Amino acid sequence: MPITQLHPFSSPAKEDFIKIVKGKGSLVWDDSGKEYVDGMANLWLCQVGHGRQEINDAVADQMGKIAGYNTFDPFTNEAADAVAAKIASVSPHPDGRVFLANSGSEAVDTALKLARLHHQRRGEADRQIIVRRTHGYHGTNVGGTSVQGIAPNREGWGDLLPHVMEIPSDDIEVAAQMFSEHGSRIAAVISEPVQGAGGVIVPPDGYLQGLRRLCDQHGALLIADEVICGFGRTGSWFGSQTYGVTPDLMTFAKGVSSGYLPLSGVILSRDMATAMEDDGFLFRHGYTYSGHPAACAAGLANLEIIEREGLVDRANHVGEVLSEGLRSLQDDGLIESYRGVGAIWAAEFGRDTTLHKMALVDKGAILRPVGTCVTFCPPLVTPDDQLVRLTDAVAEVFA
Ligand SMILES: Cc1ncc(COP(=O)(O)O)c(C=O)c1O
Repeated sequence: MPITQLHPFSSPAKEDFIKIVKGKGSLVWDDSGKEYVDGMANLWLCQVGHGRQEINDAVADQMGKIAGYNTFDPFTNEAADAVAAKIASVSPHPDGRVFLANSGSEAVDTALKLARLHHQRRGEADRQIIVRRTHGYHGTNVGGTSVQGIAPNREGWGDLLPHVMEIPSDDIEVAAQMFSEHGSRIAAVISEPVQGAGGVIVPPDGYLQGLRRLCDQHGALLIADEVICGFGRTGSWFGSQTYGVTPDLMTFAKGVSSGYLPLSGVILSRDMATAMEDDGFLFRHGYTYSGHPAACAAGLANLEIIEREGLVDRANHVGEVLSEGLRSLQDDGLIESYRGVGAIWAAEFGRDTTLHKMALVDKGAILRPVGTCVTFCPPLVTPDDQLVRLTDAVAEVFA
């Protein structure tokens, strides 16, 4: 049968895809019954593991009352109010506001618009530059495509957003130089706490604090893209907390619902919110599915599990087991180095790894070769023996 679905980040000429039919914990199975350890937690997101009946029940319960309803003025729903309050309460902005959306890309576009809106409303019409970091990934909407630092993803689409500048991901001096030349026109810097899709690149010591300082000195905003780092991945609720930085805007998605249903959004600091809360201002932005009650019910049930089972702390245990396995790969001379924090890691080979994706899958290990490394981002509930299966598969494939 000719293929109809056009798959994301895939060659349109490819026809044979693996059909995933079932998941339980950190394991998934395909339609031939083959078992895989889901070393990427779906796609950097399934913190609580697959097959959680209590999330399914929460969604079914919500859908039994009403499946979907919008939250445009004058409407709201209990699940959306509750999940927004819960997200704010574990963030650096418990007194802030939370805008709800569906995908990480929508969250990023919202944050970019909010940053520019903030300056426009303060009369700084020329403050429009968004600074991106090399290797940053911020989704594939036009905004996120424009501000991501993975060049091939930006190519071939014609003109993207104007007023975007790039800094290297590891050199605060270059950032300082850019601010000294363009600071009065910089609206915001967008940065992942740990760059995920770009290859699990942890920030150099003091780098994120340096960005915060530059933004403060020059009147710019700091946007933390927490789409991967949020909800326990780095051993804190948010990556910004792991690195001791307080952003003005924080995007989230993925781990907020562990992907049981699409849910994302943006956290605004109290100052950002206050600046919008005057009578007569209409926030002309939003999505039909913002605050979708079933997605919000999934998010709430997921966050309850993360809290009850102590999964934010367990990320560090996952990291200890993974890094032990990676250390022995290094000792055996199979990898050049390894890096990571919490439950997000990369094995560095110093040579192209992307040809080995299917060999890893054949071994029953779903991992993500990115450039010269292989990335690990398993569910926060993964048992030790399954973590060992991941590093063993890498050893076998790359031996
Ligand atoms: C940091 C970051 N921002 C944004 C996105 C885009 O999210 P989505 O694919 O849900 O649009 C991703 C996706 O991987 C991401 O890692």
